[in-house]
Amino acid sequence: MKASLDRREATATGSDVLISGVVERAEKENQLPRSLAKDDQLVKGLLKAAWDRKEVKGKRREITVFHRPDGKGRLLVVGLGPRSRFSPESVRRAAAEAVRAVKGKGARTATFRLATFAQEPVSPEAAARAIIDGSYLGGYEFVKYKSTTEGSVEDVTIALGEELSRSETDVRTAIDEQVTIDEVVRWTRDIANLPADTCSPERLAEEARHLAKEVGLKVTVFEPEKLAEMGCGGILAVGGGSNSHPPRMIVLEYAGGARRGKTVAVVGKGITFDSGGISIKPATGMSHMKFDKSGAVAVLGILRAAAMLKVPPRVIGVMACAENVPSGTSYRPGDVVKTFNGKTIEVLNTDAEGRVVLADALGYVSAQYRPDEIIDLATLTGAEVVALGDDTAGLVSTDDKLAAGLLGASAATGEPIWRMPLTDYHRELVKGEFGDVRNSIEIPLAGMLTAAAFLETFVGTSAWAHLDIAGPAYTTVNTRKYQPAYQNPGATAFGVRLVTRYLLDAPKA
Ligand code: BES
Ligand code: MN
Ligand code: ZN
Repeated sequence: MKASLDRREATATGSDVLISGVVERAEKENQLPRSLAKDDQLVKGLLKAAWDRKEVKGKRREITVFHRPDGKGRLLVVGLGPRSRFSPESVRRAAAEAVRAVKGKGARTATFRLATFAQEPVSPEAAARAIIDGSYLGGYEFVKYKSTTEGSVEDVTIALGEELSRSETDVRTAIDEQVTIDEVVRWTRDIANLPADTCSPERLAEEARHLAKEVGLKVTVFEPEKLAEMGCGGILAVGGGSNSHPPRMIVLEYAGGARRGKTVAVVGKGITFDSGGISIKPATGMSHMKFDKSGAVAVLGILRAAAMLKVPPRVIGVMACAENVPSGTSYRPGDVVKTFNGKTIEVLNTDAEGRVVLADALGYVSAQYRPDEIIDLATLTGAEVVALGDDTAGLVSTDDKLAAGLLGASAATGEPIWRMPLTDYHRELVKGEFGDVRNSIEIPLAGMLTAAAFLETFVGTSAWAHLDIAGPAYTTVNTRKYQPAYQNPGATAFGVRLVTRYLLDAPKA
């Protein structure tokens, strides 16, 4: 896929489809919006006629296609929804809906008329970024295992036109950066969507090695023997059940673009398949547990984007990878395991494995790098999905500045997160009977927050933020229709756009 900026009018680019946006019309609004005058000329008054008969209203998800009388392709007009709620997210969704509407219909090239999307309060740069997001992510499909595929838009042009000519430099910069980010998101989705027979902990290590070579990162892979030497009893316990796919801890380092920048550690849960282990899960929906590596795969994506965009901070990526399956060598309820920092975990439920592997990763990165900040991403609890739904991640942080930075990045990228509390009540609940902490409290109380309280035990003095991405990490065919069109069934790579934005906006120091 590629995208470029064109200074000319949208009609001059000769694309298969020209895409314009229209805001929902107000009650007494009879005139076709002036921004669409050129589109109406192109189709010889057909657009105005459709507007007059109220076929085009600008409602969300409304798509109207006109065939150009000159035979040179199509004009697609997409609804942006009410003006009072117009935001970059309106554009992101509309762009995704537009490219999906022409999927399999012979349109390989598309031109967006930027002026119809860049309306108050959305700047031309923000509109351009949202168009790139919408078309790159809405056009994404995991086709590795399909024998036939429908052709989709491969080439996106954003046409500036005369009215926006003054914004050219800013829009060009925005497009270049966003294309890099969204290419990384597509790459991340391709890995996160791989099934567990193919994507083992060792395969994730291979991906990390390959990435390190490609973009210039330092990489270290810890295998079981080394993990035992280091005292990483958590990762070894969880990974111990799998006789075919042994665990790995993978560390990636990006040196940083600023001279005396801060160090940010990004830690991800990488369970390549979560069957629950001895505390086995019910059969229904278990296939989704191939997505339980989404946090670690997001770490790969974030490090890739950080290196490509040369973000100011130094970034350390840690991926805690294991397969959680039942066997004679599995860890069991009742076991007590010792982790990297010496603290012990009393295992009450082998299905609460994410926090057990993260205990080692957090302990290791805290001691080894003493980072200024640690951000972890994990598909950690079903309780997160119940509390916030499957579009929003739960944020738990002990540092208001870090939390504010992430909330700002969330607003800018449209990846929704919501901050939740962490108090002594939760800390009390996770205290162990036979170990320092217990991995399950065995009563349905604040499951997302007791998990966070557990993780906090393994964080040193760094500012820390935990993102529970159990909900938004993937979508399923069942929930697909409630999701924005830029989230296809399968992995979303949630967190890559968010954390990359956070790192980009970090002060240059
Ligand atoms: N990977 C799951 C959490 C999950 C659930 C992710 C649904 C995505 C969708 C995690 O390992 C898990 O099983 N958590 C348990 C913890 C419990 C046993 C304390 C849960 O949430 O039920
Ligand atoms: Mn589990
Ligand atoms: Zn899990």
